Amino acid sequence: MKQLTLCTDSPDGTEVLGQRLGSLLTPGIFIALCGELGGGKTCFTRGIVAGAAPEFSHLVASPTFAIMNEYPGTPPIYHFDFYRFSSCHEISELGFEDYFQGHGICIAEWAEKLDELLPDERLDITFAHAGEDRRSITFTACGPVAEALLERLAEKT
Ligand SMILES: Nc1ncnc2c1ncn2[C@@H]1O[C@H](COP(=O)(O)OP(=O)(O)OP(=O)(O)O)[C@@H](O)[C@H]1O
Ligand SMILES: [Mg+2]
Repeated sequence: MKQLTLCTDSPDGTEVLGQRLGSLLTPGIFIALCGELGGGKTCFTRGIVAGAAPEFSHLVASPTFAIMNEYPGTPPIYHFDFYRFSSCHEISELGFEDYFQGHGICIAEWAEKLDELLPDERLDITFAHAGEDRRSITFTACGPVAEALLERLAEKT
């Protein structure tokens, strides 16, 4: 499966969806979170961590100022927020690409800013407002690993 769009009607709904995805993740996956301000990217990430490394989910907050938060699960989870960057060149100077190619789970908010630094193999997730508490969430699989993952998520929803 290459694409799937789901809607949620509350922050809890978005977190539960993230948790479902989190319970299916395999080491080395790159999750690219894109879309509107306040779309639910951090909320969804809290859910992913609750599914993949529950003992750390209470720590999930936007790493806007830290750029990256690490949750030391097995595998480790690296949560990035590239909101305040204006170009991928600025980001490349920080040397995060080693994390992108490693065995951890990478979750990147504002991943559209990575542009040419985005790994070819990844799961894109785009958030859009669809009403006050409603969000439209579109999953696009890039590569066979993400396609298999999306298949399993669709079975679970
Ligand atoms: N269905 C929903 N899913 C997720 N968040 C929702 C939903 N309905 C309302 N909200 C609210 O929208 C906001 C989403 O915030 P969140 O920080 O997760 O977004 P974000 O995409 O990470 O924002 P930013 O672009 O600033 O990083 C929260 O205040 C949350 O309570
Ligand atoms: Mg955020």
